[in-house]
Amino acid sequence: MKRFVLSSVLLLFLLGGWLREIQDLKAVTLSPFCHKNDIRQSAHRNVTVLLWHWPFGFPNSLDGDVCWDLYHIPRCHLVVQHSFYNTADVVVFHNRELVRGHQKLPLHLPRPPGQRWAWMSLESPEHNGNLQQYANIFNLTITFRRDADISIPYGELLPRRDGEDEQGSEVAAPQNKTALVCWVISNYRKRQKRSQVYKQLRAIIPVKLYGHWSRRPLSPKALLPTISNCYFYLAFENSVTKDYITEKLWRNSYGGGAVPIVLGASLSDYKAVAPPRSFIHVDEFATIKALGEHLKHLAEDKKRYDEYFRWKQLWRVKLLADWRERLCRVCSQYNTLPQYKVYADLEAWVSAPNSKWV
Ligand SMILES: *[C@@H]1O[C@H](CO)[C@@H](O)[C@H](O)[C@H]1NC(C)=O
Ligand SMILES: *[C@@H]1O[C@H](CO)[C@@H](O)[C@H](O)[C@H]1NC(C)=O
Ligand SMILES: *[C@@H]1O[C@H](CO)[C@@H](O)[C@H](O)[C@H]1NC(C)=O
Repeated sequence: MKRFVLSSVLLLFLLGGWLREIQDLKAVTLSPFCHKNDIRQSAHRNVTVLLWHWPFGFPNSLDGDVCWDLYHIPRCHLVVQHSFYNTADVVVFHNRELVRGHQKLPLHLPRPPGQRWAWMSLESPEHNGNLQQYANIFNLTITFRRDADISIPYGELLPRRDGEDEQGSEVAAPQNKTALVCWVISNYRKRQKRSQVYKQLRAIIPVKLYGHWSRRPLSPKALLPTISNCYFYLAFENSVTKDYITEKLWRNSYGGGAVPIVLGASLSDYKAVAPPRSFIHVDEFATIKALGEHLKHLAEDKKRYDEYFRWKQLWRVKLLADWRERLCRVCSQYNTLPQYKVYADLEAWVSAPNSKWV
C-alpha cells in the first residue's frame, strides 16, 4: 500500500513537471506569428497591390483571386500591369532590379494621393547595394526584419491545431544518426565569423562537411535526408544581421530533423521567433570549446537530446517561399499600416546599428 502511494505521488510529480514544461513551451510569446490578420481588414473594398517588376525576373501566375485562392486573404487585388498605377494603393519595388539598373522607379509619374511605395528585399544589407539614392522615396519596407512595415520572414512557426493530423515520426528525433555535427558549405570565406567558429569547433569535435567547398556537393533531394543523419547541423548564416534567419533554420534544420546550432542574428532575435530548446545559439557559450563539449554530452544523452524535438508537438514550420504570398501580406496588414511614413534615409534603416557587415 505504502509503495503504491509513493509511486502514485512520484507519478503525479513527474506528470506535473512534464505538464509545466509543456506550459512553458506554450507560454513563449512568438510575437511575429500573430498576424494582424485578414478578418480585421474592415474596409469593404479591394486593396490593389501593384508589383512593378517580378523579383529576379521570374513571373508567377496571378490568375483568379490569387490571395484568396491560395492564402485565404480577402479583398486583395494583386497586379503587375503598370496601367493600374493610378489606382494602386501600394506599389512594390523589388530592390535587386533597381540597384542593378534593370528597372527604374517611375519618378516622373505624379504619385496619386494616399498611394504608398514599398521597398522589398530579402537580402542581407551587404547585398542590397547602395541605397543612399533612395532617400525620401519609400513609405514602406517589406523585408525579413521584424520591425519592417510588412515583415516577411523566410519561415515561421504556426501553432498546431488540436487534432491536426500529424505523423508521429515528424515530431520525434530521427533514429538514424551517424554523424555528430554536419555543415553544408559552398562559399567558404576564411574571414567570416562562421568559418572561424567552424575551425575552433573542429578542433574539439568531428564536423562532417558537405557542399562545394569540401567537394561533397549535395543534390537538393539529398539535402534533408543527409541532414537527418546528423545530431546537429550548423545553421550558420553568412551575415551577422538583425533578424536574418534563413531557410538554414526553417527548412534545413527543422525539416531535416537535426538540432540547429545557430550563428548570425542575436540570441534574442532567435528567441523571438523560435521556441526554447529548438536551437542552440553559439553565443550561449563562453567559448567554442564549451559549446563542443556540450554537444558531445547532449548527443550521448538520448533523453535530453529528444527534448529538442518536443516543441514540434505544439508548432509546425511554415516556409515562406512564394513572392505572391509575401505580397498578399501587404493586404492582411494594410489597415494597420502607418497613415504617413517616409523613409528619409533607407540606407541607415537597412544597415541598422546592430547589423554588422561580414
Ligand atoms: C476584388 O479583387 C478580386 C480579385 O482580383 C476580384 O475578383 C473582384 O472582382 C474585385 N472586387 C471589386 C469590388 O473590385
Ligand atoms: C533518416 O530518417 C528520416 C526519418 O526519421 C528520413 O526522412 C531520412 O531519409 C533518413 N535518412 C537516411 C539517409 O536514410
Ligand atoms: C509617401 O512618400 C512620399 C515621398 O516622400 C510622400 O510625399 C507621401 O506623402 C508619402 N505617403 C504616405 C501615405 O506616407
